[in-house]
Amino acid sequence: MYSATEKALIASIWEKVTPHTEQWGGEALERLFAVFPQTKIYFKHVDTSPGSAAIRTHGDKVMKAIGSTAGDLDNMLTTLSSLSNLHAYNLMVDPVNFKLLSHCILVVLANHLPSEFTPEAHLAFDKFLASVAAILSQKYR
Ligand code: HEM
Repeated sequence: MYSATEKALIASIWEKVTPHTEQWGGEALERLFAVFPQTKIYFKHVDTSPGSAAIRTHGDKVMKAIGSTAGDLDNMLTTLSSLSNLHAYNLMVDPVNFKLLSHCILVVLANHLPSEFTPEAHLAFDKFLASVAAILSQKYR
């Protein structure tokens, strides 16, 4: 459950992200692959070298999927249901990796939004990404 304040913080951060989903999503994935290289195992068929177009394209998809649920936090389960199936049954991503990607996304947001990404916004966004991760991992249980 999210308080009205948390919902407002998440929505206002997301408004700032929207024009940059491809660039910032790409940066988050680039960090993921550089800082946690074990995550590259899932992307053997993708060019994961820094600056690759495939990373930006995929980063855009990931960020837009996050955005699809950022404004409607009470319906996250439904919105993310098919992505949850994909990651659990098709891709079989070990749930630990969602925490690693969430961390990289937070770092990218903090870099780009130094004044908006206050400790309160950080806390709300961390909670939000943890819910996304929990939903994408729930089909494993
Ligand atoms: C595909 C979102 C975390 C591995 C996708 C797609 C989206 C997405 C939207 C594209 C689905 C499609 O094309 O229909 C997310 C979100 C995540 C997340 C919102 C968490 C915030 C992860 C993590 C990994 C991962 C942690 C592994 C380290 C993959 C792979 C694909 C994929 C391998 C398929 C890529 C391809 O073949 O093009 N994800 N993802 N995802 N995701 Fe995730």
